[in-house]
Amino acid sequence: MPKQQREHWASKFGFVLAAAGSAIGLGNIWRFPYKAGEYGGGAFVVAYIVSVFIIGIPVLIAEFIIGRSAQKSPVGAFRELRDSRYWPLVGWLGLLTGFMILSYYSVVGGWILKYIVVSCTNGFQTGAATAEFNGFLASPGQQVLWHGVFMLVNIFIVRGGISSGIEKWSKILMPSLLVILFVLMVNSLLTSGAAEGMRFLLKPDFSKLTRAGMLEALGHAFFSLSLGMGAMLTYGSYLDKDINISASSLEIVVLNTFYAIMAGLMIFPVVFTYGVDPGAGPGLFFVTLPEVFARMPGGQIVGFFFFLLVAFAAITSAISLLEVVVSFFIDELGWTRRRSDYILGCVIFLFGIPSALSFNLWSGVTLFGGKNIFDILDLLATNFMLPVGGFFIAVFAGWILTHGEKEAEIKRVENTFHFYDIWHVLIKYVTPIALIIVLLYTTGIIRFLE
Ligand code: TRP
Repeated sequence: MPKQQREHWASKFGFVLAAAGSAIGLGNIWRFPYKAGEYGGGAFVVAYIVSVFIIGIPVLIAEFIIGRSAQKSPVGAFRELRDSRYWPLVGWLGLLTGFMILSYYSVVGGWILKYIVVSCTNGFQTGAATAEFNGFLASPGQQVLWHGVFMLVNIFIVRGGISSGIEKWSKILMPSLLVILFVLMVNSLLTSGAAEGMRFLLKPDFSKLTRAGMLEALGHAFFSLSLGMGAMLTYGSYLDKDINISASSLEIVVLNTFYAIMAGLMIFPVVFTYGVDPGAGPGLFFVTLPEVFARMPGGQIVGFFFFLLVAFAAITSAISLLEVVVSFFIDELGWTRRRSDYILGCVIFLFGIPSALSFNLWSGVTLFGGKNIFDILDLLATNFMLPVGGFFIAVFAGWILTHGEKEAEIKRVENTFHFYDIWHVLIKYVTPIALIIVLLYTTGIIRFLE
């Protein structure tokens, strides 16, 4: 397809919201608050922000630069920029990672949609949450059905394309998410556990910020910005040349951190008010919080809006994953967007079925000491494939692209404080080293540091 015909974002605002939408997801709501609580509250928040500056922003900028200068999705982008047999492999790795992550992310997305329905129908009953969730997990039909519904929502949005699909929906979903999050946060901060919740999330305790905590902060900074597989690269490929990449990146990062902290301020006060365990992940969303909603006055309405907000966060992340895969077939095989969207959406749905069955029919299929298919995909993709992809993206931007190529995308004149030079040192030396350390940690090679 000739370059001129490539779709573009209609506005910088829409682009920033779409990219922030990709970044703001389950990671912000179920992982960040918990990690912060575990590793010293405000101390972890500081470590996270430092990590965002040393690996988050540099890789985010690198992905935008690569995407915009090539005007292609990951595989084609590396090929376009360097005539080499090896660099496109980084694009292939990203494509595979996106495919894998979406296949199980969509299963969780389905759980969220199901819980929106639960909150509208029979609501939440005291003491029933564990049994209800386990019952739901045990039903293969329900698992596959809701996974399918979630994929359909994504297929519907991505079908509209960049400006009238992803951008349009991000402009609707992200501000709605903010309003709901704000109202629920205020509601939480009015409960009696507010002070304790805020202390848990924010009070800095540097003695708890162990080396493991710092590595968690680094890893999370990377994951929470959707880096390492070319999602941001793909979004960057739809950018107009006149949009300031460094300023946009900063805005995306600020929004991402802001939503994560608000999510923590929404969750912990009620967790402490109702004396439930402030754990992370699926247990928090589908067991702990439903229990809180069952006991809280007006809990059914709060629960409904809570799951709606989480659904919005999950959908705006999932569409960026689907877009990576869909854009590959458009760019490389010349398929139409609709064809690519429908076919790949279905293929990913099918590929996600084993994850949906991991909790019931196929729960016996395990590896690595009891991990089911769902866990294995998550482990491989987030602990291994994303940091590896990110490492090569940083090396490509730091060592392979010329100054001229990079400066064409982030111009020195746009920035004060030698922004370009600082970014360049980070992406060339600091980020690759930090990512190798993260990789050694997440793969368990340097567990002994704890
Ligand atoms: N950033 C997302 C979150 O916080 C998760 C994520 C990681 C992701 N990598 C991604 C989302 C790539 C989309 C694309 O939940």
